[in-house]
Amino acid sequence: MEGRTSLLLPGRPEKGVLGPGSKGRETVFYNPAMAGSRTRSVLLLRHAIEAGFLGEGEIYALDGLTASGLRARRWLNELPAEMASRIKATIVDLNEEALGWARASHEAFPPHHGKGEISAVRGDLRTEVLSSGRHWVDIDPYGSPVPFIDSAMQSLARSSVLEVSATDTAALTGSSKNPLLRRYGARVRTDCLSHDSGLRVLLATVAKAAARHDRSIRPLVSIWDSHHLRVSVRVQKSVKSANDLQSELGWRVFSPAEEEVRESIAAGLHHDSTCEFLPMHCMLPLSSKVDRSDSRISGPLWVSATGDSSAMRSMTEEAAMDYCGPEDISDALDWKPRELELERRRVARSVRNLAEEGSVIGTYHHIVVDDLASWLGTGAPPSPSKMVQILRDAGHRAGMAHYGNPSFRTDAPWEEVVEAAGSLQPPM
Ligand SMILES: C[S@@+](CC[C@H](N)C(=O)[O-])C[C@H]1O[C@@H](n2cnc3c(N)ncnc32)[C@H](O)[C@@H]1O
Repeated sequence: MEGRTSLLLPGRPEKGVLGPGSKGRETVFYNPAMAGSRTRSVLLLRHAIEAGFLGEGEIYALDGLTASGLRARRWLNELPAEMASRIKATIVDLNEEALGWARASHEAFPPHHGKGEISAVRGDLRTEVLSSGRHWVDIDPYGSPVPFIDSAMQSLARSSVLEVSATDTAALTGSSKNPLLRRYGARVRTDCLSHDSGLRVLLATVAKAAARHDRSIRPLVSIWDSHHLRVSVRVQKSVKSANDLQSELGWRVFSPAEEEVRESIAAGLHHDSTCEFLPMHCMLPLSSKVDRSDSRISGPLWVSATGDSSAMRSMTEEAAMDYCGPEDISDALDWKPRELELERRRVARSVRNLAEEGSVIGTYHHIVVDDLASWLGTGAPPSPSKMVQILRDAGHRAGMAHYGNPSFRTDAPWEEVVEAAGSLQPPM
């Protein structure tokens, strides 16, 4: 069982042995490390339905590289009957054996309210996705999603959602420079923000594909979770907004010079500043004359917000527990109370800080406290929650981030960030 949904597998998924280890073999791929991603997918679908951007009628949803079928099965089983009854889900995989397990799971454990439809298709996602229009498409491949993005984009309804996972994290975060340049046409500086930069490179890639097909994107949630990066975006058909793409793309500069910070301010990508203290990073517009061989530069990448405030604020731990937390022991097969409790904690952990981060997702600074300590030449990194509290007390917006490295976001001027960090240093 994952979340509230049971599935059949050829063996118990201890330590993920049926996960990445089974790649390429004729068996079903199930990776428990991706459970959080599936939980967030259920919650985001609920938000999109409630916010009304999937229309009022049937919702055509595609779980594009489905493997065990669990993602689509969780959509149906964990959403309330009135939402699930609108969903017509298609699960696609090249692997017939995987689809066999998915079908068997669906028969053994159908949605508890009996609502919603799933049909299984064996084939290549790039062909199947074009067979009809979709409101929701999920791409969760081995490695890079690049081969699937263009065809998925073309299949999307006028207002829809695309979710894209990438496990070629070494490329997206700048450790493997050649694949990064080849697949995404970008470079990324390897520092504590490299996963954030990787998410922004992925968003830029999806946005460029959208623009090629007269569409534009709005990021809903962008997440770094253990070995993968994942972006979920709202896609709308609009030639006018597709033309605005260039203003959403640009560069991230580490250790910017004063004139770079001034250029960032002039472009509306940084708060006004005396430049007495220069920040660790700033963004520059795409039109900026950057030296691509400069090791301080990452990009081209998405320079606007990487998430949508209301979508992220809907992903509270309470909502995760209400919709996805296992609670009925009779559904839980042979699970012991302790195992149920651990699964509840995993469900809560999958959205930790997301709602809080949603209220500050549009702010200019994303600060990893380890980086801040080295930047300021102080000793131990300051506590991110204490930094948030001090900055809020001073009247600024600040919040913890859902990010692999302890970090926070704020709109406080850099001068005040430096002062707050200084106030947390023990006296000499
Ligand atoms: C990483 S797994 C998907 C995991 C799944 N989404 C989940 O949440 O558990 C990738 C799956 O894509 C399938 N696959 C690979 N290339 C494909 C293609 N071109 N079309 C359809 N399925 C494909 C593989 O057989 C594999 O089951």
